[in-house]
Amino acid sequence: MLEFRNVEKHFGSNTVLHNINFTVNKSEVVVLIGASGCGKTTCLKMINRLIAPSQGQILIDGKDIQQTDPIELRRTMGYVIQQTGLFPHMTIRENIEIIPRLGGKDPEEIAARTAELMRMVGLDPDKFLYRYPSQLSGGQQQRIGVARAFATDPDIILMDEPFSTLDPITRSQLQDELVELQQKLKKSIIFVTHDMDEAVKLADRICIMDKGEIVQFDTPENILKRPANEFVRDFVGRKRIWSQPELIRAQDIMINNPVTVRQDATVLRAAQRMRLRNVDSLMVVDENHKLQGVFRLSDLHPGMSGQDPISGLMSSEPVTARPEDSIIAMLTMLNRDSLPNLPVVEEDGTLVGLITKSSLVSTLSQQFIDMEEAAANAEAAEVEGGAK
Ligand SMILES: Nc1ncnc2c1ncn2[C@@H]1O[C@H](COP(=O)(O)OP(=O)(O)OP(=O)(O)O)[C@@H](O)[C@H]1O
Ligand SMILES: [Mg+2]
Repeated sequence: MLEFRNVEKHFGSNTVLHNINFTVNKSEVVVLIGASGCGKTTCLKMINRLIAPSQGQILIDGKDIQQTDPIELRRTMGYVIQQTGLFPHMTIRENIEIIPRLGGKDPEEIAARTAELMRMVGLDPDKFLYRYPSQLSGGQQQRIGVARAFATDPDIILMDEPFSTLDPITRSQLQDELVELQQKLKKSIIFVTHDMDEAVKLADRICIMDKGEIVQFDTPENILKRPANEFVRDFVGRKRIWSQPELIRAQDIMINNPVTVRQDATVLRAAQRMRLRNVDSLMVVDENHKLQGVFRLSDLHPGMSGQDPISGLMSSEPVTARPEDSIIAMLTMLNRDSLPNLPVVEEDGTLVGLITKSSLVSTLSQQFIDMEEAAANAEAAEVEGGAK
């Protein structure tokens, strides 16, 4: 619904944005992130026409915003900035209601919405409505800033480092509140930050910028797992994926071709196959590669005939994982049922992989290797810095 099409911006001879192309869908949170001066605020200010592109177009629902009256345009957008932008001589109520009132809405409706929004951002209207901004803490002021952005029920909300001056706890609370608010109100939000943790927490998609260009525009998961280049890798930080273990999924770490056997195989054949392939479990599949069960070494016992079919001996309802299950869910399953492994199946039962306890352990130990490497790099950088 919001689209940047070949947008460039020059300030004099200085090109600060090069050929920017991206879209923000309805109800989507896109986080712009990048080093200071890379052009994030410039992008945001172009959306509400505080800055005009030197070239290219910005479209909302297919319509070039240069053709919309800027005042009209801004009425359909909420804007939150770092320095709250609250008017100091107006009460909280006046601050929140100023734009809806300009829009000529019914005052009673406006008042009801103000109270609702204040509750949504965790402030008691009875207590705060008639205070002035200076009588609120920084976090409370920023909450009002957020409430005000939502007050006209705009489709698009622009947020430029709204939480960056707050202490970590307040900041984290406001992030949670924004996530909650967004679940209810489903706006298109373009949010600028320097903080990767904040980006990962809030974003449906993250737009990483460097020197006026987009380096990667993707979901947090893909950015953490498949950084487009060294810049993104460094920016994201190598060990960050470990602070988001829920993003490590079965499909990322599974064995892709587990040893299988058909359900009509005999015990003898299965035993031979285990010996030959040096495994202690076979995934039993039908002709369409759908999982029928798991045949384990422990299912063999003396007294059975080599000609018996395995179908009567295997576990026919094994615990399975889905490709998108997280490492945490898998650890829970393995431990709960003390299983040696977990077949990974698609929704229709097709076998796609196998998670073994040892593959999980080696993934988890990689965490410590990555962390050691990061620590060693940091130390080396320090030594280098000190030598200068
Ligand atoms: N009005 C202006 N005139 C000239 N240059 C400008 C103007 N506004 C911004 N710039 C330049 O454009 C570049 C991008 O600025 P912008 O404010 O978009 O960066 P930013 O990514 O938001 O940085 P920060 O993280 O520090 O807020 C910078 O080099 C800045 O100096
Ligand atoms: Mg900025």
